[in-house]
Amino acid sequence: MRINIAIDGPSAAGKSSVADKLAKKLGYVHLDTGAMYRMVAYLCLKNGIATEDEDGAVEALKRADIRIKTSGDIYLDGNKISDELRSETISMKASDVSKNPKVREALVAMQQRIAKDKGYILDGRDIGTVVLKDAEVKIFLVADPKERAKRRILQNEIKGIECDHDKILEDINKRDYQDTHREVSPLKKADDALLIDTSDLTLDEVVDKIYGIVLEKIK
Ligand code: DC
Repeated sequence: MRINIAIDGPSAAGKSSVADKLAKKLGYVHLDTGAMYRMVAYLCLKNGIATEDEDGAVEALKRADIRIKTSGDIYLDGNKISDELRSETISMKASDVSKNPKVREALVAMQQRIAKDKGYILDGRDIGTVVLKDAEVKIFLVADPKERAKRRILQNEIKGIECDHDKILEDINKRDYQDTHREVSPLKKADDALLIDTSDLTLDEVVDKIYGIVLEKIK
């Protein structure tokens, strides 16, 4: 039996890394929905569209030639832009663009279409509450903001991206506020989601914990 798994939580709580590893272990597909909002932010930036211009953003999304490879790499018009999508500028812009109801509507419809056959792990902010309300396993990952900033800095260092440490923490706090206080689909734990605090856990410990929950569910 294949199921769907929803992983939500604030930025840099480890959602994507956990979802990636878990997907490999289960032979499932991981869909990083944050990358989709980042893509819209990138399209707005490239095409001079204001983040508040909902129609302009949705139009740009419809026109764009976007390919997501099984490796998780994202291509726009044949060019790989995965690393550019992770920049701090795009992170903030993605949070801004995600406030727009029409953008959310378009992306949620795509996400639901993709996951309809089960066997998917979606990570984001509204997966358990909106996108996959009927997901068989729902996880809400949290971690102390300072720990999350440390992980983001380490990730950047590995990729050779220079960053201002104080600014990273400031941006994390700012995005947390924006994502939890927006009017449409704010970041919120679904009532039936299991909360896991990853502050003192390794990546493998978190993955093993969720893997155990999934096995219990599908047996
Ligand atoms: O997970 P992330 O940091 O890549 O997400 C970037 C932004 O996109 C985040 O600040 C909020 C938004 N987002 C959202 O509103 N809903 C989702 N399902 C995923 C991301």
